[in-house]
Amino acid sequence: MTTLPTVFITGASSGIGATYAERFARRGHDLVLVARDKSRLDNLAARLREASDVAVEVLQADLTSPADLSALETRLRDDARIGVLINNAGTPQSGGFLEQSAETIERLITLNTTALTRLAAAIAPRFAQSGTGAIVNIGSVVGFAPEFGMSIYGATKAFVLFLSQGLNLELSPKGVYVQAVLPASTRTEIWERAGIDVNTLPEVMEVGELVDAALVGFDRRELVTIPPLHVAERWDALDGARQGLMSDIRQAHAAEHYQPQARGDRKN
Ligand SMILES: NC(=O)c1ccc[n+]([C@@H]2O[C@H](COP(=O)([O-])OP(=O)(O)OC[C@H]3O[C@@H](n4cnc5c(N)ncnc54)[C@H](OP(=O)(O)O)[C@@H]3O)[C@@H](O)[C@H]2O)c1
Repeated sequence: MTTLPTVFITGASSGIGATYAERFARRGHDLVLVARDKSRLDNLAARLREASDVAVEVLQADLTSPADLSALETRLRDDARIGVLINNAGTPQSGGFLEQSAETIERLITLNTTALTRLAAAIAPRFAQSGTGAIVNIGSVVGFAPEFGMSIYGATKAFVLFLSQGLNLELSPKGVYVQAVLPASTRTEIWERAGIDVNTLPEVMEVGELVDAALVGFDRRELVTIPPLHVAERWDALDGARQGLMSDIRQAHAAEHYQPQARGDRKN
């Protein structure tokens, strides 16, 4: 009998992370759950042990704390039972760019990008060496949409997509699966944390539907899973356009429309 890998989930105390925990427990995986709110993690862990008869460990950690982050990195490096990393913890942006303080910018970028990257980097060498393992990074469709007025949050989520695409190219030949999951509006506490009443949104996906769809993509070993995207070809077209653009980058010379005017036309 093969033992299922343990799943390590950040931001597991609520919303998407807690739902991933519930779904992987149902599939029979042991879990390591990470977040700041220990009592919520303990309650979830007790419920999952009872319902699914799996081992659930709780690690209280603030991913913006250097000491906490480094302890989690050590755990990911050393614990060979951990075979799936769900890089889910994230924080929203409240207010526009002009309303941000140094602290809110620092926290948002540290949690949404630095912590996610460092955890992936801690586990990737072990996965690459064993030729197995999965890294799931939770991005957002906001990463496609500067129009939404969440410039810093969106930039962190564009980072998550790019990082996942790059990691896929580097790690999939070594047997490591990388997935970027891009939700749109999903009913979780993130909206309250951003100071927005979720009930004022025109359309919202329920969190169970979001995670179940993400897991369909996971089971298919899809690189980019966008549960709310109803025309899958849109993603293929976007990625195709990107590759087309790259094929027209010629490094030796500036494009014709950037060539300075002929010498005779120039004022000296
Ligand atoms: N809901 C949406 O509409 C939506 C859409 C697109 C993308 N997403 C992304 O989905 C992911 C999960 O968000 P969610 O919607 O499920 O929101 P959520 O319910 O607010 O969950 C966020 C989780 O992150 C944890 N967390 C926050 N700050 C942390 C920190 N400093 N250290 C450790 N853990 C921290 C929270 O737990 P503690 O407070 O206990 O630490 C919580 O478990 C995020 O990356 C978010 O950007 C959400």
